[in-house]
Amino acid sequence: MPFNNVHIEESHHTTVGLYRLFVYFLRFFRPRRAIIAATLLLAMCATAAELTLPHLVRTGIDRYIVPTACLIDMDRLRQHPDLFRELETDLTPVDGTDMVFLGPEALRQAGTSLLPQLQALGISAPERYYITPATSDALQVVQNHPDMLSADNNVVAIAQSDMAALSSSELLQLRRVDVRGVALLSGLFLVVLLVGFGLTAAQLFWVEHASQHIMHDVRRTVFNHLISRPLSFFTANPVGRLVTRATNDVQNLHEMFNALFASMLKDVLMVAGIMAVLLMLDVRLSLACFAVLPFLLLSAMLFSTFSRRAFREVRIKIAAINAMIQESIAGLSVLKVFGRESEHDRDFQRLNYENYQANMRQTTVFAIFSPVVDFARLSVMGIIVWYGGLRTLDGAMSLGTLVVFLYYMRMFFRPIQDMTEKYNIIQSAFASLERLYLLLEKSGPGEELAGEPLPQDQGCAISFRNVSFAYNETEPVLRDVSFDVAPGTTLAIVGVTGSGKTTIINLLERFYDAQQGSILFDGVDIRKLDTVQLRRQMGLVLQDVIMFSGSIRENVLLGNPQVSEQRLRQALAISNLDKVVARLPGGIDEPLMEGARMLSAGERQLLAFARAVVADPPVLILDEATANIDPLTEELIQKALTNITIRRTAIIIAHRLSTIQHADSIILLHKGAIKEQGTHAELMARKGMYYRMSKLQYLSDS
Ligand SMILES: Nc1ncnc2c1ncn2[C@@H]1O[C@H](COP(=O)(O)OP(=O)(O)OP(=O)(O)O)[C@@H](O)[C@H]1O
Ligand SMILES: [Mg+2]
Repeated sequence: MPFNNVHIEESHHTTVGLYRLFVYFLRFFRPRRAIIAATLLLAMCATAAELTLPHLVRTGIDRYIVPTACLIDMDRLRQHPDLFRELETDLTPVDGTDMVFLGPEALRQAGTSLLPQLQALGISAPERYYITPATSDALQVVQNHPDMLSADNNVVAIAQSDMAALSSSELLQLRRVDVRGVALLSGLFLVVLLVGFGLTAAQLFWVEHASQHIMHDVRRTVFNHLISRPLSFFTANPVGRLVTRATNDVQNLHEMFNALFASMLKDVLMVAGIMAVLLMLDVRLSLACFAVLPFLLLSAMLFSTFSRRAFREVRIKIAAINAMIQESIAGLSVLKVFGRESEHDRDFQRLNYENYQANMRQTTVFAIFSPVVDFARLSVMGIIVWYGGLRTLDGAMSLGTLVVFLYYMRMFFRPIQDMTEKYNIIQSAFASLERLYLLLEKSGPGEELAGEPLPQDQGCAISFRNVSFAYNETEPVLRDVSFDVAPGTTLAIVGVTGSGKTTIINLLERFYDAQQGSILFDGVDIRKLDTVQLRRQMGLVLQDVIMFSGSIRENVLLGNPQVSEQRLRQALAISNLDKVVARLPGGIDEPLMEGARMLSAGERQLLAFARAVVADPPVLILDEATANIDPLTEELIQKALTNITIRRTAIIIAHRLSTIQHADSIILLHKGAIKEQGTHAELMARKGMYYRMSKLQYLSDS
């Protein structure tokens, strides 16, 4: 698909294969691969750290907060020799009583199925006991409540139902070991939290770092590509669209990179990690929870379809609003003169309202989807509380696991929601990637600048040999044009508006190439010559003077460092720009505002002269260069010009025939063909078109 196809702009479906895009843009990612790899690693570590947190909570609950031992009926246990052998070493008897306990540690190691089994066999009753090492603190509590607590030198035991009778200070005293454990775990929790935080911060920093560099590289490539296009490229591609390529589309690439590497990567790791951990903790409850996933997936798919549509609409409307604001401000004077402000305002209101509607549609989609995810999350919470609660009650699952399930599930839904929202960014970024790809790869060959060096010391002769040219296939603009400009002489081109005068210059500067015939510079076809060198030979002063943002000095020098201050001042004087400069508060270094609107059209032409004088080129080309200058200043410049052009080859295009009377040769161009050719005197003697034009002007001037 050719790049100048207008539909590319708003078409959001990808016509270039993803693989091709991937391969193409890999070249920008490759130089940053080390950083990208580092961010991957950081993301993994950060995810691991975050996944550890719930585990610490679980350990705290199961080991220190609800440590449960069960009372074992030894007679019954002995009836099951297998079980007896298995548990024998883990049993904790309390000397002086007939109580034997199976401690929480042993229960944990035996797995979740042991407890239900022991209860079913009547070896253990549902009542849970708390057992703790017999420290002096613990024994003190035992003295206060000898009826409830059983103790020997090693172990203190109390039924869970009796623990409510102890005061809170007694409980803390009894459970000093647990308190210490909980404190330790809390500390660890904080450390892991901080580590995770640090890792995430580092990861985000490096993602942004890589992303900024990639964006920088892509933008530079785009800009480079644009300025190396031949001018014909810009006839087919509106500037506004190209600006969008270099700014918005590159920005979209940046956002996609960030979305992928800063959030989605971690989201995927997180979801996968949580699923793995949950399955390891409790397969049945996990599967029960995952039952909502298909429902979630379906709604996510619906969401992304609708939101993509809404998102696209919003983008189109915003682009339209931007364009309209820009256009209105740029053309405000025209609007005011024709009194069209209110109509324009109405148009804008309509557009603005459409934008509002598009935004509301987008909001609606989000407003529906967020509660859907919430609903799924709460349903899962319900499943956990109900089914997990049952499994905890019958001892198949620990309380810690139950709590941790709830915790993980909260973590589980955030990345899922996040991923669906990021999906939009990725979508629009792919459209941008495609447009960038088409611009960079499919916009035809760049300008061929390299070529043979120019012939030396030949004096710069210019010849057109049977040149025919058309900007587009339909209408020929030049027809069989031939002429010679001998070294050091001046050729004037005259002709009515649209006759093709500027086109001759465009061909000579190689902004375009002629379809037929050839243009010779010192006898060599310019298509063979080095274009940069060729252009450097020719100083060009045009009717519309292009100004760059910067001071007058910068605009005159155009980055040429070899010009002395003296020569600069001299050039300003020759071109009569010095008077303008004297008027500006900052003089030659006064920054010119956008488009140099503070200079008049004529003053800008003076500046263009100064440019040509400073550049001191062997060939001087003036295309209606004095059209905006008053006759008095023009006369001054004419004098200066005569001095400048005296040894140079010059081509001068002028509407005011009085200014070119002294040219060595004059061409009259009509509808792209040379109609008359000769000196002023010869052409006047012919009494043809030149004669008539001259007479008309003479009449109006006098
Ligand atoms: N970039 C372009 N793409 C297509 N057509 C163009 C382009 N530039 C000029 N033309 C057409 O080519 C013809 C000759 O244009 P050109 O600029 O050479 O005229 P000119 O003699 O310099 O006129 P003027 O006296 O108004 O400056 C015109 O009909 C114009 O519409
Ligand atoms: Mg012109």
